Amino acid sequence: MTNLCSSARAGFAARFGRAPDGLWSAPGRVNLIGEHTDYNEGFVLPLAIDRRTIVALAPRDDRLMRVASSFAERTVELGLDDLIPENLADWSAYPLGIAWALGQFGADLGAVTGFDAYIVSDVPVGAGLSSSAAIECAVAVALNDLWQLGLELRTLALAGQFAENQVVGAPTGIMDQSASLLGRVDAVVFLDCRSLHAEVIPLGCDPAGLDLLIIDSQVSHAHSTGGYASRRASCELGARLMGVPALRDLGVSDLARAAELLDDETFRRVRHIVTENQRVLETVQTLREQGPTAIGALLDASHLSMRDDFEISVPELDLAVETARAAGAIGARMTGGGFGGAAIALIPSGLRPVIEAAVGAAFTARGYVAPVMFVVRAADGAHKVE
Ligand code: GLA
Repeated sequence: MTNLCSSARAGFAARFGRAPDGLWSAPGRVNLIGEHTDYNEGFVLPLAIDRRTIVALAPRDDRLMRVASSFAERTVELGLDDLIPENLADWSAYPLGIAWALGQFGADLGAVTGFDAYIVSDVPVGAGLSSSAAIECAVAVALNDLWQLGLELRTLALAGQFAENQVVGAPTGIMDQSASLLGRVDAVVFLDCRSLHAEVIPLGCDPAGLDLLIIDSQVSHAHSTGGYASRRASCELGARLMGVPALRDLGVSDLARAAELLDDETFRRVRHIVTENQRVLETVQTLREQGPTAIGALLDASHLSMRDDFEISVPELDLAVETARAAGAIGARMTGGGFGGAAIALIPSGLRPVIEAAVGAAFTARGYVAPVMFVVRAADGAHKVE
């Protein structure tokens, strides 16, 4: 983190020829369980991770916004009066998109000053760890301070989701930004995506001697195209045909009726959401009563449901999950939107070398690109660093 902060300061000074006013930071996230349930107004259980985005920022005395980052050569410039989604493209759509979205959630963009911002990050891109939400949330908390907006974290999360939906064009839910803003050290965020009520639940990995291993399949995904939107459409169709506002309103006892009413594919999409919501609730209860060692079967069941019913896994993720389990993981599942990205495995810390070696060997044997593996720890959500 200290290194990341120094590069943010140094990068800001090199691009803009002055020192930043402050540094704000927001983490990536990993979802423990509760996949594709967020836009169905259901339950999710993500955590903020110890991979972060830092934005160094200072106000300007005109209405220009300049954004730069360590991962792009060009500094993007845009006047606040030209801040509309149509004018936003490439990576700068994330920081400038959130500036625009804050205007839709109460900021008077006609009365604020411009800014210079420089962004650095060690959240891997394309791994399903929400590098984009980390940028949005770091910039959101920075502008909330700079422009003295006084917006609640929940509103910042909604603004981040709105930017993602309207500017980036990905029809995603509220989970990623909520995790990045509300996460806590060694805890998961239990979020009701209808009421937006959030509770922080201790994860307890350290006392249980467990690690959360990320296995990045190196299969890159994008939620602004294809599969994600079609899954969302199936869920909306299922809810309409079942006569409920959202799939959140169905329980396991409604599945028999759903099987009669829906075509096979829509039924399986619905069954995933209904059972996944149930698994989130059971995971919360199990964490509270027995701790993380007891949640393995729920993680496994979630993976099978995503593989067979929701059909968002890929062979690389299935292999990662199966191999990690066979090598001693307590439970494992793909995580995030799917169609690539990462799997998580909850593992006894001492087995890490064995499990990593087994997964690496299995990928080599199948001729897949070597996966990238690392352990993450649950970390605090977005805040001002200095
Ligand atoms: C992506 C989206 C989230 C959520 C997950 C699937 O990460 O951004 O809103 O829908 O996929 O659980």
